[in-house]
Amino acid sequence: MKILNKVALVTGGAEGIGKALCQRLLEHGTKLVAILDINADWETTATDFLKSLAVTKFDLFIVTCQTKLNYASVVFNLKILGTCESFQEAFDVHGQLDIVVNNAGLIAKDNRKTIEILLLAVINGCLIAEELMTKEPRPEKGIIVNTSSIAGMVVQDTNILNSSYFAAKHGVVAFTKSLPASADNFSKDLRVVAICPGLVLTNIFKKQDVVDDNVMTKELDDIKEHVTNVSVVVDAFILAIEDESLHGDIITAFGSEGIKVVT
Ligand SMILES: NC(=O)c1ccc[n+]([C@@H]2O[C@H](COP(=O)([O-])OP(=O)(O)OC[C@H]3O[C@@H](n4cnc5c(N)ncnc54)[C@H](O)[C@@H]3O)[C@@H](O)[C@H]2O)c1
Repeated sequence: MKILNKVALVTGGAEGIGKALCQRLLEHGTKLVAILDINADWETTATDFLKSLAVTKFDLFIVTCQTKLNYASVVFNLKILGTCESFQEAFDVHGQLDIVVNNAGLIAKDNRKTIEILLLAVINGCLIAEELMTKEPRPEKGIIVNTSSIAGMVVQDTNILNSSYFAAKHGVVAFTKSLPASADNFSKDLRVVAICPGLVLTNIFKKQDVVDDNVMTKELDDIKEHVTNVSVVVDAFILAIEDESLHGDIITAFGSEGIKVVT
C-alpha cells in the first residue's frame, strides 16, 4: 500500500516507537494520523509533533482515554457493546481507515494489566479495526500492524522483563500468524503483520515497575551494544505497510541483524 493520502491510527503513538512511526507516516504524506494514547500531556505532544514536522494540526488527530479504565478494558467493553469510541472517532474524521497499528505497551509487574494491554488490546484492536475498515468496499487492502517484540520470538535470560511480558508478546505473534488462517473468518480485504523489535531505548524502561531502577540501568548498560535504532524499527513498520505480499507474517528488527521477514 502506498502511504500517501491514507488514514492511519496508532495506539501508543505519543511516545517512543509509536511516536517515531507517526512522524514517519506524516512525512510520507498520510492524510491523517490518529494517535490513541493514555499519555495525558496532549498539548506538549501536539506541539512537539507540529514543531518537528511540516504538517498542520489538521493532519493530526489525538484521542485520549479520559476514563480511569485502562485502554484494554475500554476497548474490550466497547467491543462487547458493538462499538469502540476512540477507533470510531478516528474513522469518522474522513470516513476512512487504512492503516491501524496496535502498538501501546508497558512493562508492568501486574500480570493482568500486562496481558490486557499487550495482548487483549491487540486482539480487540484488530477486530474493531476489521469492522471499521471493511464497512465499505475497499479500493485496496487495508493493513493492521501489531507490535510484538524479540521477547515474542525467543525466551532469554533477563533481569528486566517478567514472564507475563514474554507470554503476551508470544501471544501477539501467534495471534497475528493465525488470524488469516483460523476460524475467525478474517476479512480478505485486510492484511495483518507483526513487528518484533529488539531493544530500543525508550521511556518504557523508565516507567516500568518490575525491577529497581538501579537494576534496570545496570542491565541496560550491560546490553547496550545490542540496542536497535528506532529508525530501523520504523523501517520494519513501513515494509509491513508497503509490501502487499506480507500477510500473517512476522518482521524482526533487531541490532546488527537489521530487518528480516519470518513466516
Ligand atoms: N522499547 C523496546 O525495547 C521495545 C522492544 C520491543 C517491543 N517494544 C514494544 O513496543 C511498543 C512501544 O513501546 P515503546 O518502547 O515505544 O514504549 P513507550 O513507553 O515509549 O511508548 C508506549 C506508549 O504507549 C502508551 N500506552 C501505555 N499504556 C497504554 C494504554 N493502556 N492505552 C493507550 N496507550 C498506552 C504510553 O502512554 C506511551 O505513549 C510496546 O508494545 C512495547 O512492548 C518495545
